[in-house]
Amino acid sequence: MTDWVRVAAKGDVAEGTCIGVRVGEKEVAVFHMPGGDFCATDNVCSHEYALLTEGWMENGCIECPLHAAQFDIRTGKALSAPADEDIAVYPVKIEGEDVLVQV
Ligand code: FES
Repeated sequence: MTDWVRVAAKGDVAEGTCIGVRVGEKEVAVFHMPGGDFCATDNVCSHEYALLTEGWMENGCIECPLHAAQFDIRTGKALSAPADEDIAVYPVKIEGEDVLVQV
């Protein structure tokens, strides 16, 4: 685990959407969940190479744009084929208007 890293302002991620950020060598997806929580996961699909933030966010899941595997955003759990490996999830905290992630 690294130190906390500021990855965005709250206003950079509209509720119900996500953005991709780079933290060191890692591609990280930052999600603003409906209801207001923020979550962070690996942005690279566990199946092949695709950025999950280019997919579809719905009902607490992110669907990969390449072969449509779905992952639970809060747990990283792979919910459908062809992905059979979970993705990492990272702690998120809000400080004022800033979104911080610990990768
Ligand atoms: S690359 Fe994501 S499902 Fe294949």
